[in-house]
Amino acid sequence: MLLKNKLWPEVGSGIDYSLLQDKWIPAPWINLGDWSVTEDYREACHQLAFRLGDCLELKADDRLLELACGYGAGLRLWYKSFGVQHCDALEYRRECHDFIESDPPSNLDGLIKMRAEDFFSSVFSGQCKGEAGYDAILCVDAAYHFDSLRDLLKASRILLKPGGRIGFHLFCLNSKKPLAGWLSKFFELAEVDSREFRNEEDLIREAQEKEFEKVEVVDMTVQVLGGFASFVKRRSVQLGFREKLKPAWWKIRATAWLGNKVLRQGWLKYVMVQASVR
Ligand SMILES: C[S@@+](CC[C@H](N)C(=O)[O-])C[C@H]1O[C@@H](n2cnc3c(N)ncnc32)[C@H](O)[C@@H]1O
Repeated sequence: MLLKNKLWPEVGSGIDYSLLQDKWIPAPWINLGDWSVTEDYREACHQLAFRLGDCLELKADDRLLELACGYGAGLRLWYKSFGVQHCDALEYRRECHDFIESDPPSNLDGLIKMRAEDFFSSVFSGQCKGEAGYDAILCVDAAYHFDSLRDLLKASRILLKPGGRIGFHLFCLNSKKPLAGWLSKFFELAEVDSREFRNEEDLIREAQEKEFEKVEVVDMTVQVLGGFASFVKRRSVQLGFREKLKPAWWKIRATAWLGNKVLRQGWLKYVMVQASVR
């Protein structure tokens, strides 16, 4: 959910992720991380993804779809930690496609190069019927970027086998009250439409209406948002003066500030959601 380039257009699209991690091999991670057991950025990102895979009880013979896969670090994790051998992955950013295609993970069957919203539309219109039959659909730290949670659930319902599982991260409102206007603007900068935020009860009800069961919502606000904010403070000490002058660093700092603000004020929760198809 890193704040994007609207405040600082000269940075270009996206974030300079090298400011967050010194090591890029075999693939960079680009999420907020789960900091409950580590202070290292890559390890925290790995933990956030691992925990989602673990909750979904991924198995070697699962056929998996990862939405918004970034640079494909998750695909390698699904193979290494769970033995998953067949994955399709969706991502719309060109630099991510180029990176993945330069050294594709061995378990990658197909890279779907489009926005999630366009993909969901193609699912609704029946264009990708043949691709249905996934055992699990995962989305690590990205589903809140999609235009509609309803469409994510509806498309997943079509794409998953009976008993198939879905898991993703999301922001949830702590009450029925929508966010203040100025805060919504901040989320807009991060390409997140806060009008899509709902509280936990509404989220569970909506998933059940879309024929999901065993819907579980785990609050990860402190270990994700609090952890990322503390990491950015520590990283600031490691970076040189020049790097800290970069607008990209200020975007990262603004993201950390926003996460910490919603955490301390108790306005939002950062949650991991899992469910299975009835
Ligand atoms: C915080 S990153 C997470 C990436 C990856 N899952 C990881 O953990 O490293 C969010 C990702 O969502 C992707 N994304 C944002 N909006 C999207 C959309 N509408 N459709 C598909 N992908 C999207 C971005 O390109 C980015 O790769």
